Amino acid sequence: MAGIPSAGEESVPLPHPCPEPMSALSAPTRSSLTRPSVGLLFNPTTPEVMADGADLVEHLSVNPGQMVHDLGDHSPVGERFAFPAPLLEALANLRQDKPLNAHSFSLSLPSASPLDEALAGAITEVGERLGGFCWLSEHLNVIIPPQGVERHSEGGLALPVAYNEETLTLLRHKLTQLRQITGLPILLENPALLTPLQELEMEEPTFLNHLYRSGHCGVLLDLHNLLVSERNGGMAMERYLEQLDPAAVAEVHLAGGEEIYGVYTDSHSQLTPAAVWTVAEAFLPHCPNLKAISFEYNDTYFACIGSAGVRSELERMHRLADRCTQAHRTALAAPYPIAASPC
Ligand SMILES: [Fe+2]
Repeated sequence: MAGIPSAGEESVPLPHPCPEPMSALSAPTRSSLTRPSVGLLFNPTTPEVMADGADLVEHLSVNPGQMVHDLGDHSPVGERFAFPAPLLEALANLRQDKPLNAHSFSLSLPSASPLDEALAGAITEVGERLGGFCWLSEHLNVIIPPQGVERHSEGGLALPVAYNEETLTLLRHKLTQLRQITGLPILLENPALLTPLQELEMEEPTFLNHLYRSGHCGVLLDLHNLLVSERNGGMAMERYLEQLDPAAVAEVHLAGGEEIYGVYTDSHSQLTPAAVWTVAEAFLPHCPNLKAISFEYNDTYFACIGSAGVRSELERMHRLADRCTQAHRTALAAPYPIAASPC
C-alpha cells in the first residue's frame, strides 16, 4: 500500500518529537506500530485544562489561521501576513516539547480556484515560528466559493464536495503543490454533512481511499462528523467504516454536537456522544497508522463542558489509545469490520 509521497523531496527534519514519521503511513511492521497520542484542538481555554492535567495532553492541534493575520490580496508585496508575536510565544510556551499538528480551515482545497500559495507559505511560517508541525490537515470542504467578490473571500459555510473523477484530479494536483510548499504530510478530514448528497459518482470513503492509495494524503477521520452525516440522512457510520481503508487513518477527531431546528450539527458543544465512542472503540484498533486522537470543543461552550469534563474525556481517550496499542501489537491491526475482532 502506498505511503504519503515525498513530492520529490527528503522529509523535513522535525525539531520536536512527532509520534512517528508520517512516511511510515504504509503497510505496518511490528516495529513501526506506536501508541496513538492523545490531545486537544487548541483554543483559548486550553491553558486552563492543562494547568490541572498537562500530562493528559500529549499533543496539540492548532489552527494556523488563528496564528496569522491575513490582511488581504491588496496588501503591498511582502506585507499580506502579520504574525502576532505574543500569541505565538504563548503557544510555544504552552506546548513545551509536545508535538504540534496544523489543522487548517482556510485553504479550501476542493475549490476550483487555484491553491493560495501565499497562504500555504504563511502556514509554513507559522509552523517554523512554533518549532515545527508534524503534519497539516485540511477539510474536505469548499470554503471559498468560485467567483466570489474577493479572490479569497470565504463563503461562511463549509460546503460539500462532488465525489467524482474531476474533483479527484483537482485535489491530487493541489495536494502535491501543498506538500511541496509546506514540506509536510497532508491529511484530509471527512466533512459533516447537513443534508444527503445525491447522484454521486462514488461514495465518500471510496473517494478518500483513492487519494490515500495514490499517495496524495492520509485521512483525518472525524468520527463525530460521521454521526452528523448519518443523522442528517447520509451514510450509516458502520457502513462508512466498512468501506474506508483503516490504513489511511492517521488522526481521529472526537467531538459532540446538538440539534438545531431539526438539523444535527457539529457544534463542538458537548462531550463525545455514546454512539461515537462505540464506533471509536470498535474501529480504531484496526487502524495501523493511527498517530493521534484529538478532542475538539468550542471554547464558547467551555462553561458548560468544564475543565473537569475535558479532562475526563482525555482520560477515556487514553484508555482507548492503550487498547489500540495493544490491539496493534498483538494482531498487527487485524482487518475490520467491527464484528471481526473486539479491541
Ligand atoms: Fe474535526
